[in-house]
Amino acid sequence: MSGERICEVDELGEMEARGFVGRVDGKQRNIFAVRRNGEIYIYLNQCPHVGSLIDHIQGHFFAPDGVHLRCGMHGAIFRIEDGVCVTGPCEGESLRRLATEIRDGGVFLVE
Ligand code: FES
Repeated sequence: MSGERICEVDELGEMEARGFVGRVDGKQRNIFAVRRNGEIYIYLNQCPHVGSLIDHIQGHFFAPDGVHLRCGMHGAIFRIEDGVCVTGPCEGESLRRLATEIRDGGVFLVE
């Protein structure tokens, strides 16, 4: 078994998002986890537009509509389920989703 434990399944409520640091491609990177319909998604915390943190204001990942993610720098809007930018400067591009595994009540990154 491999992979880094990022958080506990129970610490992330429905429609909650939190930033973490995790090992991606051999480096410590900012990542974030978001939960929707019970599923936990982990993305690299990097907008595909010019690479800013999605939570320009730390911990603020959601668009005002409450159902999409938003890059706080220039306002790109992303779907939670697949990370695709549906409007904004990087429309059609995607956040990078990271493979995860749920085990022993924890969420692990799969390397
Ligand atoms: S860096 Fe995200 S929209 Fe500009």
